[in-house]
Amino acid sequence: MKNIRKAKIVDIGMNKIYDLAVIGGGPGGYHAAIRAAQYGAKVALIEKNKLGGTCLNVGCIPTKALYASAEMIHRIKEHGEEFGVITDIKLDFAKAVERKNRVVEELVGGIEALEKAWKNDVYKGFGKIIGGNAEDGYEISIEGEDNATITARRVIIATGSAPALIPAFNIDHDRILTSDDILNPNFKIVPKSLLIIGAGVIGCEFANIFATFGSKVTMLEYLPTPIATEEPMVIKELQKKLESLGVEIHVSQNVLSVENTGSGVRATTCSAEVPRDQIDSAEKSYFEAEYCLVSIGRVRKSEGLGLENLGIETIRGAIKINVKTTETSAKGIYAIGDVAASGAPMLAHVAYYMADVAVANALSSLGGFPAKPRETDYSVIPATIFTYPNIGSVGLRRKQAKEQGIDVAMGRFPFSSLSKAKCMGEEDGFLLILADKKTSKIIGASCIGTEAPELIAEIALAMKNGLTVHDIADTIHSHPTISEIVCEAAEDVFGLAIHRKGRPVFH
Ligand code: FAD
Ligand code: NAI
Repeated sequence: MKNIRKAKIVDIGMNKIYDLAVIGGGPGGYHAAIRAAQYGAKVALIEKNKLGGTCLNVGCIPTKALYASAEMIHRIKEHGEEFGVITDIKLDFAKAVERKNRVVEELVGGIEALEKAWKNDVYKGFGKIIGGNAEDGYEISIEGEDNATITARRVIIATGSAPALIPAFNIDHDRILTSDDILNPNFKIVPKSLLIIGAGVIGCEFANIFATFGSKVTMLEYLPTPIATEEPMVIKELQKKLESLGVEIHVSQNVLSVENTGSGVRATTCSAEVPRDQIDSAEKSYFEAEYCLVSIGRVRKSEGLGLENLGIETIRGAIKINVKTTETSAKGIYAIGDVAASGAPMLAHVAYYMADVAVANALSSLGGFPAKPRETDYSVIPATIFTYPNIGSVGLRRKQAKEQGIDVAMGRFPFSSLSKAKCMGEEDGFLLILADKKTSKIIGASCIGTEAPELIAEIALAMKNGLTVHDIADTIHSHPTISEIVCEAAEDVFGLAIHRKGRPVFH
């Protein structure tokens, strides 16, 4: 790893002593290390692979870089002629991948430079807690490119997650791939046909990308609907969009096996409704393609960390923590991000947030740092899906609100009635805001359409601060902007949107 400073801290015998050691250099870990240095702590950051973790190397960033190429194609294909931009579009996938690789390298290099600037010692190797306690410090062995044993007064575990592998799916990283494989810097083939198992977030993002690049995409999903966690109206709109790209979505499919046939792949399924003991005799369906992407969720990576010896429990790999403080049952050891059993979704911004809480608690427990104890609050977590159009959501869905007995008022505004969206030719989709009828407080929002992830950020801020739909409507939004849709949807909760005929509440 270039640009990384080798550890240079006061030697006490063989051992270097730190205020904080962070195991894992993904969004949770690298963020925690920088935050702790800002408080004045001496920090060791241990990473066995590349700084940036899943997110920068094989997750958020490479997918969004490829998405950017797909989006450019979409825009020109859908609107080029109408906008007077007439061009023959040709994809050079190798170039798109090179750009994606460059974006990743630059961002990873940026994190390396930041750790260096904060004088954090970055060790390249596998970290394991081999003993100790909160009073004397924990001993950590590092094995890999750097071999060392260090002592840290506090430890944050941020070892993340990896794609879930099911033996029957025979993932061979050749034809039957995980998201890590398809985002590999050397994967430069646009499959003629791509079978995607699991129509969750990863499945839908790749279906959109590769269908736009010209692959014939077929999706197999166990549940009766793709991205089941989203609002049904949003799911319907996305399905319509994916189908317009030629994507076939087969739901309620129990995928029994996947095989590499030499020239392609073949999946065998039966209906998800067939009881387990009747699968053998159930009617089967077969799906073939050139390549297969398996995206059925992720597993937490906590093995080999020495947790058993410290009495720290795991549940299917997820490290048990106090969800408020992020501390494990071993005093002074915290777990954050994907690897922690926090109950929050596996997202980079959740890992960042947990890092702040863990660092504040770790350093305040030591004393001598300007840090105060903190507790997590997961009530407002925005989520986004980068398909075309984008999806963003926060808070409750309508079904959840009803289940919680909340009397819900809903506002909905379509992009087609928004002047800026019309100028941009981005008229698909809508923003939906849910409020508690009694208090007018916003309890959730779902959006599919251009800039949905950015729009959801405004609503998340409003929710976090207990604002009402009137507070949003009272805020001047500049014109013409996409953000005006937030104001219009908020006004529509009480039938008062200007550019949409509603039913005013005061009649
Ligand atoms: P990770 O990023 O997994 O990092 C853990 C790090 O720890 C790794 O670098 C690993 O090498 C290292 N490590 C593990 N064990 C050890 C050890 N013993 N010693 C030393 N190092 C160790 N989230 C979003 O919010 N937005 C998105 O758009 C988004 N897109 C995604 C797209 C894909 C294809 C995938 C797979 C995920 C995406 N995610 C997205 C999820 C996001 O990447 C994760 O939630 C995030 O990376 C979790 O951060 P983390 O720090 O907990 O773990
Ligand atoms: P997921 O949980 O979103 O979706 C997995 C899908 O696979 C589900 O719909 C599930 O029903 C289905 N499934 C599970 N087993 C199956 C089987 N045997 N056969 C057929 N279908 C099956 O997980 P995914 O897509 O792998 O993503 C993992 C995580 O990564 C997400 O939960 C999210 O937290 C994060 N992520 C976030 C992104 C973002 O924020 N834009 C983008 C990509 C990933």
